Amino acid sequence: MTKVLILGAGGKIAQIAEELYLDQTDFDLRLYLRHPNKLSIEESDRVEIVEGDASDKNSLSNALNGVDIVYANLAGDNIEEQAKSVVESMNNSGVKRLIWISTLGIYDEVPGEFGKWNNNILGSYITKYAAAAKVIEESDLEYTIIRPAWLTNNDEVNFEVTHRDDTFKGTEVSRKSIAQVVVDTTKKPSDYVRDSIGVNKPNTDGDKPSWY
Ligand SMILES: NC(=O)c1ccc[n+]([C@@H]2O[C@H](COP(=O)([O-])OP(=O)(O)OC[C@H]3O[C@@H](n4cnc5c(N)ncnc54)[C@H](OP(=O)(O)O)[C@@H]3O)[C@@H](O)[C@H]2O)c1
Repeated sequence: MTKVLILGAGGKIAQIAEELYLDQTDFDLRLYLRHPNKLSIEESDRVEIVEGDASDKNSLSNALNGVDIVYANLAGDNIEEQAKSVVESMNNSGVKRLIWISTLGIYDEVPGEFGKWNNNILGSYITKYAAAAKVIEESDLEYTIIRPAWLTNNDEVNFEVTHRDDTFKGTEVSRKSIAQVVVDTTKKPSDYVRDSIGVNKPNTDGDKPSWY
């Protein structure tokens, strides 16, 4: 049985993905997070909860025991340190497959006025996420980096995908769409291997996300 380790499991996309995993697959989930009280999902025969920090390599190495695939839904100023910790722990544990949530703009791939606006508003956040993605891309892991457009909480799954060297498309995408991409990629782990995919809602091109 496939066992998925979810890092940052209390995050907003992660919690949607957890529901989708339980509904759409028979995979077992190990939820790894700093604040288990943030979870609405409860422990069960398919769900195990482990309290831990992604930058803590010892704790992470223990959590990787018996795991087939890691889905990292992390954030924060130390995201590069977390990426290093994940890569090193996965290398030591022999777990190869990683799905890593990043952000749009890390390769300066967002075109036009929206690209300029995105760079201005996100500033050093992009630099930090780019450094973390570089750590993943320089590893030997079978990674998929996901670069979502600006996130909405819309209850919809509607997305298109661009690849590592493509120009980014659109301005927005729902968290539910990203969660679905994560679950689909876990179900078919030969997809998007060593790729970095942009994910956006079709026909949302513009100078800013629609709510700005
Ligand atoms: N907002 C946007 O429009 C947008 C667009 C593109 C990409 N993104 C990025 O997409 C990612 C996922 O989005 P989201 O909405 O699911 O974000 P989120 O709800 O903020 O989830 C990120 C999770 O990371 C956890 N985390 C941070 N540092 C950690 C550590 N050292 N160890 C373990 N867990 C840690 C946080 O948990 P704690 O409760 O412990 O803090 C949080 O639950 C984020 O990185 C976000 O920046 C956002």
